[in-house]
Amino acid sequence: MSLDQSLRDELSALVGAHFGALDLDPAFGQVAPSQRPELGQFQCNGALAAAKSAKRPPRQIADAVVERLARDGRFRDLSIAGPGFVNFSLADDFLVDRVTALFDDPATGCRIGHAPRTVVLDFGGPNVAKAMHVGHLRASIIGDCLQRLCRQVGDRVTSDVHLGDWGLPMGMLIAEIARDAPELPYFDAAYDGPYPDASPVSIDDLQELYPRASARTKEDDEALAAARQATFELQRGRPGYRALWERMVAVSVEAMRADFEALGVRFDLWDGEACVHDLIDPMIQRMTDAGIAEPSEGALIVRVARPDDKAEMPPLVLLKSDGGVMYSTTDLATIVNRVERQDPDAIVYVVDGRQSLHFEQVFRTARLAGLVRDDVALEHVGFGTVNGTDGKPFRTRAGGVVRLSELIAMATEEAGKRLSEAGLAQELSEAERAAIARNVGIAAIKFADLQNQRHSNYVFDLERFTRFEGRTGPYLLYAAVRLRSLLRKAADQGFAAGGLAPETDAERDLMLTLAALPEAVRGAYERYQPHILCEHVYNVAQAFNRFYHDCHILSEQDLVRRGARLRLAEVTLAQIALALTILGLEIPDRM
Ligand code: ARG
Repeated sequence: MSLDQSLRDELSALVGAHFGALDLDPAFGQVAPSQRPELGQFQCNGALAAAKSAKRPPRQIADAVVERLARDGRFRDLSIAGPGFVNFSLADDFLVDRVTALFDDPATGCRIGHAPRTVVLDFGGPNVAKAMHVGHLRASIIGDCLQRLCRQVGDRVTSDVHLGDWGLPMGMLIAEIARDAPELPYFDAAYDGPYPDASPVSIDDLQELYPRASARTKEDDEALAAARQATFELQRGRPGYRALWERMVAVSVEAMRADFEALGVRFDLWDGEACVHDLIDPMIQRMTDAGIAEPSEGALIVRVARPDDKAEMPPLVLLKSDGGVMYSTTDLATIVNRVERQDPDAIVYVVDGRQSLHFEQVFRTARLAGLVRDDVALEHVGFGTVNGTDGKPFRTRAGGVVRLSELIAMATEEAGKRLSEAGLAQELSEAERAAIARNVGIAAIKFADLQNQRHSNYVFDLERFTRFEGRTGPYLLYAAVRLRSLLRKAADQGFAAGGLAPETDAERDLMLTLAALPEAVRGAYERYQPHILCEHVYNVAQAFNRFYHDCHILSEQDLVRRGARLRLAEVTLAQIALALTILGLEIPDRM
C-alpha cells in the first residue's frame, strides 16, 4: 500500500490486475465510489465495456472478476447488479491499515507524488494609501491557503505581498499633498536626503487624500499632468519626492501589517513594485537589442499576439510616450528579480480574474524575451468577485469600499451573536468570548471564501457564513472543539485509545472518508483549488457527527470497543486540525 496513490487509484489498479489476469485490458478496472451506497462502498462498471471488446457476456466477466476479488481477502459484500455492475466494500482490515498508515505517515498523507518545487507566491497585492478591500481579502485568503498547502506538501515557498507602490497613484498623492502643504521641505527642489521628522501624513490622511486626488485628476487635465509629472520625477529619483514617498509607504505598510496580522496571513517578502525599478532600464535595453521591444507612437511596446489567438491580444506597453513605466513593466522586472533571487520552478500570481489579459501579456513577453527558463511555470491563479446581496460588487451602504478592518468587525459581531444564541462559551469572561467571536468570525469569512470554486463570484452574506450548521467555518470549528473536549474528558477519566476496529457502518464511513485525504490534498494542490479541501473536511465532519450520534464512546462499557472509538476520534481530530490549518482557520480552545 502506498499513500502516494489515492485510494481510488489503488483500488482501480487492484481490480484492473484481475481484469488483466482474465486477458482483458486492466483499464477496465476503473473503480468509483458507489452511486448506490446500499450496495457497497465502491463500484466497477468495467465488465460491460470489456464484454463489448471481448465479445463475451458481461455477466460472465463480472462473475469471473468477483470470484477473483473474493479470494483476494481485501474486499467484502461483493455483488453484481444488473447486467454486470460489480459492487463491493473494503474489508475492515484493509480500511484499518489504510487509515493507520495515513495517521502514522510523517507527511500525514499530504503527498503530491513528485519532487517538491521552489515556488514564488505573489498574493495580497494591496496598494499604498488605499484601504484594502474585499478583492484584496480574497487574494490574501486564497494566497495564504495555497502557501500553507504548498508548504505542507514540501514545496519551498517564498510569499511576496507585492505592494502597489509605484504607479500614477503615487504621483497623484504627491501632487495633492503639494497642493495642501507646499511649504513641506519635500517639495523644495534642492531637498537632499531624508527628512528626520515623523511622516506628515497619517494613514487616515492618506485614505482621505487618495479619493480626493483621484477625483481631481479625473476632472482636471492640469491636475492629471501634474500627477504624471510627479510620478515621472519620483521614478527618476527626485530626492524630496522619494523621501515623501518612503513615508507614505511606511505608514501604509504599518496599517496593512495590522490587517494581515488580524487575518493570520504572513508574507516572507514585503517587496513592492518600486524595488525592481533599477532592473527596468537594463531589461528594456535587453528587449530592445533582441528586437522584441519596438517603438510605437512614442511609446515602447511588445507585440504579443499570435496567429492562432481567438481573442484580440493587444501589445504590451513597456514605456508610455512620456517615458513612464507601466504595471506590466514592473511585473516583468519583478520576474527578472525573482529568477535571480529565488530561482523558482514556478511563479504563481493569486490575483483577481479580471487581470487575466494583463498576465497573459506579461507571461508571453517574459517568454519572448527569455526572462525565464522555458521550464519555469508562470501561472495566474484568478478568482471571482465578492458581491453584495444585490449581486453587485460588495460596497458600503454609501457606495464606498468596505475596509478590511470593518469587515472583520462586522464578522466578529455576527459571530458573537451566533455564539450567544447557541448558548456557547457562556461560562467564559467577556474578554474571552470576544476573542472567540473574532476567531469564529474570521474563520467564517475565510471558509466562505475558500469553499467556492475560485473563479466563481459569491455573495458576501455574514448571516449565512456564521451559521453553525452547513458548510461554514463555525460548523467545522465547532466539530473540532467538540472532538477535543471529548478526548479531554476521556483523558480525565483515564481512558486509553486502542487500535482501530470498526463495527458499525458509521465507523466504516468515517474511516473511508478519512482515507480520501491524500486525493483531496492533491486535487487542491494541483489545481490551486482550496474548495476541494473544504469539501473534504466538511465530509469528515459530517461523517464524524453521524458516528458520534450512532455510537457510544465515553459511555461504552466494552474496553476494546471504547479504545477503538477513541482512536477513531483522535485520528479524526488530527485530520480536521490539519485541514483547518491548511485552510488558515484557527481552532479556539473553547466554543
Ligand atoms: N496591486 C494590484 C491590484 O491592486 C495587484 C498586484 C498583483 N500582483 C502582481 N504581481 N501584479 O490590483
